[in-house]
Amino acid sequence: MTTNGTTSHHAVVLILDYGSQYTQLITRRVRELCMFSMLFPGDASLDRIKSASPHVVILSGGPNSVHVEGSPRVPEGFFEYCAENKIPVLGICYGMQMITHLLGGEVKPAVHGGEYGRMPMDIAPSSQLFDFISSTTVNVWMSHGDEAVKLPDGFSAVARSHQGSIVAIENPQRQIYGFQFHPEVMHTEHGLEMIKHYLIGIARVPADWNMGQVLGEQLQKIAQQVGPEEHAICALSGGVDSTVAATLVYKVLGDRLHCVFVDNGLLRFNEQQRVMDTFKNHLHLPVTCVDHSKVMLDRLKGLTDPEAKRKAIGAEFIEVFKNYASELEQKLGKKPKFLVQGTLYPDVIESCPPPGSGQKHSHTIKSHHNVGGLPKDLQFTLIEPFRELFKDEVRAVGRLLGVPEQFIKRHPFPGPGLAVRVLGDVTEDSKLDTLREVDEIFVNTIREYGLYDEIWQAFAVFLPVKAVGVQGDQRTHSHVVALRAVTSADGMTADWYSFTPAFLRDVSNRICNKVRSVNRVVYDITSKPPGTIEWE
Ligand code: XMP
Repeated sequence: MTTNGTTSHHAVVLILDYGSQYTQLITRRVRELCMFSMLFPGDASLDRIKSASPHVVILSGGPNSVHVEGSPRVPEGFFEYCAENKIPVLGICYGMQMITHLLGGEVKPAVHGGEYGRMPMDIAPSSQLFDFISSTTVNVWMSHGDEAVKLPDGFSAVARSHQGSIVAIENPQRQIYGFQFHPEVMHTEHGLEMIKHYLIGIARVPADWNMGQVLGEQLQKIAQQVGPEEHAICALSGGVDSTVAATLVYKVLGDRLHCVFVDNGLLRFNEQQRVMDTFKNHLHLPVTCVDHSKVMLDRLKGLTDPEAKRKAIGAEFIEVFKNYASELEQKLGKKPKFLVQGTLYPDVIESCPPPGSGQKHSHTIKSHHNVGGLPKDLQFTLIEPFRELFKDEVRAVGRLLGVPEQFIKRHPFPGPGLAVRVLGDVTEDSKLDTLREVDEIFVNTIREYGLYDEIWQAFAVFLPVKAVGVQGDQRTHSHVVALRAVTSADGMTADWYSFTPAFLRDVSNRICNKVRSVNRVVYDITSKPPGTIEWE
């Protein structure tokens, strides 16, 4: 292990982030090619870069201009370090401009005002970067205002756009290359092949990383980390990340892993029973269920402010967890030393902040999403087997561990549960029960229509209003529920899912017929931003 927590026996493709919206995509593309990639902020120190022992370094794109005072750049001595250690360097967009600028070439604002979107480029007849492509013209995806107008010594231009800009450079002797366009986006023809050709054919990176190996390494690491007499504790949410993490750790520790699932009274229809059944019968994972619903709901009585609700739920959760840990300590005669958490790579990545934001580095941590977020004074040593993985990679590990497919594909569910889906006081008017029924019908209908896997998250929301309706020839004054279904890649941005009118008609009929206290169903057509996915 290095200081960065990298798995050092894999070749590391190090990506330095200069703030492009596509940087994480480069990281993922490299991983799709079975190579381990990691992301550092673009102004990482040379020591930090050295600590990763990179096999190759990719400099990402970014919104800055190299001419702007204080624009981020590689540290002093970077190119010398790479040359001494024969580390190839690839610059993409801003990365290529930085190479040009720092090594003695010239970068200027493009005379034609820049290139954005699809653009054909002509490839030079003999180039290393493109020698696997038979056509001479390729459509690529551009997004730049500046361009390289004079190349540093030893570099040649190996592609030009139809507007005349230099859009690919190489210096095989120094092993430095650059793309002005974005090979990582799917609109670039042969984009993934270009990355593959560069990494395997030019930079000679071994494709030595896959989920089977990651799993094996994590098992080994946990066995080394946790002494034979030590115990670990894990709070399960019923979601994919913590479940797969616990399943993995259980393989090594067996009964020395102690899992707890808290019923906070804010779970979905039959949720406690369903997840406990999966833990027991499918994963054979011993889990203690703590029913804290009464205390939680008492505490939530009268609370209407969303933040106050979340805080109360978080605080109660910590109380339960502390009690569970001290009971365990009494039973075992000693305190469990380790805490297992399903933290993912996107939670720990430090990215380059947007220019002018005044921030140093933006951690992409979504604080309110780490409801399991326990106070530091609890003093456990963390076991976080997925700190280097993206969610779909955790799913792949889960499959290898035999976690049932239905569970792996579950939509995410928030820690504060239905409390963020009931507007206002959650304890009044059987709101939670009504919501459970509606939600169950909605999600079951989605499954029946075969749409579940196309949707990132779907749920119902209880609105704090009543509307007039007519049911069985009688005037009613009943509840309004909203349905929400979104598509998304990571939950950070989202769009509403476009159901057919037939589906919406059917689901609304089913809800109003089965849930007597509801006489109106509305569908939420807000994207994120400006909305959020949950309502509170
Ligand atoms: P928002 O509503 O913030 O949701 O757009 C994005 C994703 O996060 C989930 N979410 C939460 N998860 N604790 C959690 O564990 C929370 O407080 C929380 N709030 C939202 C939400 O369900 C969606 O998947």
